[in-house]
Amino acid sequence: MLETASGLYANLGPDIMRRLDALALFSEDGDGVTRRFATREHRQAAEMIQSWMRDAGMTAHMDAVGNVIGRYEATTINAPALLIGSHQDTVREGGKYDGAMGIVTPITCIGILNNAGERFPFAIEVIAFCDEEGVRFNSTLLGSRAIAGSFDKAVLTTTDSDGKPMAEALRKFGVDPDGIASLARPAAGILGFVELHIEQGPVLEEENLALGVVTAIAGGTRMSAKITGFAGHAGTVPMARRNDALTAAAEAILAIERYCSSAPGLVGTVGRISAAPGAVNVIPGEAVFTIDIRAGDDAVRRQAVAAVRAEIETICARRGVRLAVDVFHESDGCQCAPWLMDQLEAAVIAIGQPPKRLMSGAGHDGMAMARVTDVGMLFVRCKGGISHHPAESITAGDAALSAQTLLQFIRKFEPKNEI
Ligand code: GLV
Ligand code: MN
Ligand code: MN
Repeated sequence: MLETASGLYANLGPDIMRRLDALALFSEDGDGVTRRFATREHRQAAEMIQSWMRDAGMTAHMDAVGNVIGRYEATTINAPALLIGSHQDTVREGGKYDGAMGIVTPITCIGILNNAGERFPFAIEVIAFCDEEGVRFNSTLLGSRAIAGSFDKAVLTTTDSDGKPMAEALRKFGVDPDGIASLARPAAGILGFVELHIEQGPVLEEENLALGVVTAIAGGTRMSAKITGFAGHAGTVPMARRNDALTAAAEAILAIERYCSSAPGLVGTVGRISAAPGAVNVIPGEAVFTIDIRAGDDAVRRQAVAAVRAEIETICARRGVRLAVDVFHESDGCQCAPWLMDQLEAAVIAIGQPPKRLMSGAGHDGMAMARVTDVGMLFVRCKGGISHHPAESITAGDAALSAQTLLQFIRKFEPKNEI
């Protein structure tokens, strides 16, 4: 029998929302939430998450890359685990729900299972991944890559905007980066990875649905482009004799927008740009900007990356400026596992919600986790599809429905192979 939101689960939605509000307080200054990897705010959030995990009957620890892992034991010791989680970090001036929702909700669900004395033949581990957004060091999926065994230790030498190398930032944060290599989990001990996340798009809201099961996660390529021209006097160099790096970048950005508007499911974004020397009366000699290109179809994305690069080369050659492009992140799309999609969908139906399947245009830790285990995702409706923005919003009612679905999924969970 299903308990309704007015019955056993009456406090579920408000409890989850209260915890999400509490986590959002660990933020750098500015609008919305800014919680970057290996910062004081990350440490504060990690401590609160661990205390919630312990209250919910789990053991909890932080690993060598800054992930927080809580384990709810099975009926037997050393049982394989169902992994559930999402990321604790945010973009700059992001919302309260991207990532955090997928940490708080499973912990709250496990608290309910623990209070009811329910245990399963499998363990459940809730993971709060340290860095999915890649804001501080431009390298994303750090925590999930460590667990999936694909962490590239070369990224430890990359520096943040203050010039601090990642390895040093991790030591200052209080973890030992030398231990990251040993975080890789053998596939044998993992039954699957499931993430609950806000949709970050408008589909569910438009269709008046609270929940959706994700079919696939779009792949993405991230690049940094540096255009070098020649700085000069803004008052004396005639327009025809300039090698202005910033106007070349402007033309390049419009070319990216044009090309990425040409195919369904293809998107391209320039999210950051800087110009040097950066004075009102100096022609910019250098412009540096990021390019993020994604598509549901990896072949379409690869073709777009090649075409955009070629077009920017042509623009730069015509304008007499030099171009250097660095691809700093590349992730193929990831198909969700049909058996996990089926079980998530059965849980959605069991709590009385209509089934819906949709793909994810946003990136998620599942892309890394897919290397080591099968991946499933449940999306929750968010207001106006707004995300990566302080106005990100969900309702307590939808939070409760997502938690009831997760509880139902866990209670009925059938591993792909016998334990
Ligand atoms: C992560 O949120 C991404 O898709 O950029
Ligand atoms: Mn995000
Ligand atoms: Mn996210």
